[in-house]
Amino acid sequence: MIVYLNGRFVPREEAKISPEDRGFVFADAIYEVVRHNCGRPYRLPEHLERMRDGLDAIRIPADPGFFPAVASRLIEENQLDGQDVLVYAQVSRGVAPRYHAFPPEGTPPTIFAFARPTDAPPPPGGGRAILAPDERWARCDIKSVMLLANVLAAQKAREANVIEAILVRDGIAWEGTKANLFAFRDGVVRTAPKGPRILPGVTRGAALEAAARLGIRVEERALSVEELLDSEEVFLASTTLWTYPLVQVDGRPIGDGRPGPVAAKICEALQGEFRGLTT
Ligand code: PDD
Repeated sequence: MIVYLNGRFVPREEAKISPEDRGFVFADAIYEVVRHNCGRPYRLPEHLERMRDGLDAIRIPADPGFFPAVASRLIEENQLDGQDVLVYAQVSRGVAPRYHAFPPEGTPPTIFAFARPTDAPPPPGGGRAILAPDERWARCDIKSVMLLANVLAAQKAREANVIEAILVRDGIAWEGTKANLFAFRDGVVRTAPKGPRILPGVTRGAALEAAARLGIRVEERALSVEELLDSEEVFLASTTLWTYPLVQVDGRPIGDGRPGPVAAKICEALQGEFRGLTT
């Protein structure tokens, strides 16, 4: 596997990062994951805008402009041209002795990226999720690599043998550990509004657009746990899943306990858009 590190394309074994990298020591870094169909990126402008917003928010002086050419070259070097591929890119504040405040001006950011085929999708019959306390920091809108709370909740989900943990704070079901959360009831598709409590997912935006195009009413309004459990449909949305139905949450069946038509229609719209990248 050829990866990208600080301007060079090298075999993964040769990509070495200093133990004093601030990404390693402080999780002082942001990342992006962009899906590509036969080398064509899905909704690249949205991903680049979110990366720029994240870099600006945490004041890392780097430009996301590196991403498109690096992604193309990674896909080519790893012979992934004809495939459904994820490109991961991470930018940290660079290498410096361990002091909390920023390193001296001019310290170059560390930029790392790799490409790999997308994993097989989860089973089509829908999945189960648990509820877990949202223990994340107060800026979940920044796509920071500081994912410890997500990691711990995802592990809880794995140990409960379910696909995702839905993160709950103040009685609100905000999102999953690695996907946004949607619910459908009485003709309305709902998801939490953009703001510091959720990551503004690119798939979330695409799903809201698709729902509106399909003539379904959409509302960006926080969902209480009770409202979530009383929904006709619940589904996740992310780059890796498109949309994916949850048929059970915390042991309670959602709707009739089977995947519903709304999530399926939105999923088909997103996948159609993705397939269309190559035509
Ligand atoms: N996760 N919410 C969280 C907390 C996420 O980590 C993600 C994505 C999303 C969905 O965002 P998008 O639609 O832009 O992929 C929502 C990525 C895929 C990950 O961490 O691997």
